[in-house]
Amino acid sequence: MNLYVDVTPATPRTRTGAIKLHGPDAFDGMRRAGRVAAETLDALVPLVKAGVSTGELDDFAREAIVAAGAVPINIGYNGYRHASCISVNHVVCHGIPGTKILSEGDILNIDLTAVVDGWHGDTSRMFLVGEVPLKAKRLVDVTYECLMLGIEAAVPGGRLGDIGHAIQRHAEKHRYSVVRDFVGHGVGLVYHDEPDVHHYGRPGTGPELRPGMIFTIEPMINIGKPGVKILDDDWTAVTRDRSLSAQFEHSIGITETGAEIFTRSPKGLHRPPYR
Ligand code: MF3
Ligand code: CO
Ligand code: CO
Repeated sequence: MNLYVDVTPATPRTRTGAIKLHGPDAFDGMRRAGRVAAETLDALVPLVKAGVSTGELDDFAREAIVAAGAVPINIGYNGYRHASCISVNHVVCHGIPGTKILSEGDILNIDLTAVVDGWHGDTSRMFLVGEVPLKAKRLVDVTYECLMLGIEAAVPGGRLGDIGHAIQRHAEKHRYSVVRDFVGHGVGLVYHDEPDVHHYGRPGTGPELRPGMIFTIEPMINIGKPGVKILDDDWTAVTRDRSLSAQFEHSIGITETGAEIFTRSPKGLHRPPYR
């Protein structure tokens, strides 16, 4: 089995076991899908405040994605029933939107995926509800820095382990921990494709990064220990020690010179505070 496959002629719609090396059509498709996803997060910014329910935010996300002519692909994915995952405070990821009302001081991640012509734009950001304790703000800042340091390490000729290492190093420098139970992933016509992108690792290890690779980086960083558990709803992942957790996610493509971010905020709302 080859580690890589050139999919420039025609991209398979399935996992093949190899890391796909995409061509310009894929980059074009990912730009369009990534833009819809990022615009949807931009549009959510003014709606995230105390008193709103996570279900209302999800309704807005679904409608915005559909209004943009894209598909809210999380609906129906492995039986999931919502357009977004909304993960509040000690929820690490895959929080299910519903009746939960946001309160002053909460931090939350909204993660959504918009599909355009089959291409998956997958992105998430943190949001702060009103005045948030400094301890929580610091976690959010460092988690954003972890994502961007990971992206800086995503250069052709580098290795996948360089990305994980850059993230882990920064998180641990601040005495935070990196969640190990969830990974970034190849993305494109397939939602969750090869390779797994670990958010920890050793430099110079793992597959070589080559132009045409398209994947997400989506570190989950905890104030406390890295352990997570899944609640009885079979989706919601929470920190075992109930410490706060934060996450940011971009979909990126490796170019000849570095990485292109497909899910950049058109409004420049990359990280809180958004005011
Ligand atoms: N968007 C998530 C990721 O970053 C996956 C969510 S799957 C869902 O890979 F079904 F929970 F929506
Ligand atoms: Co993802
Ligand atoms: Co996501």
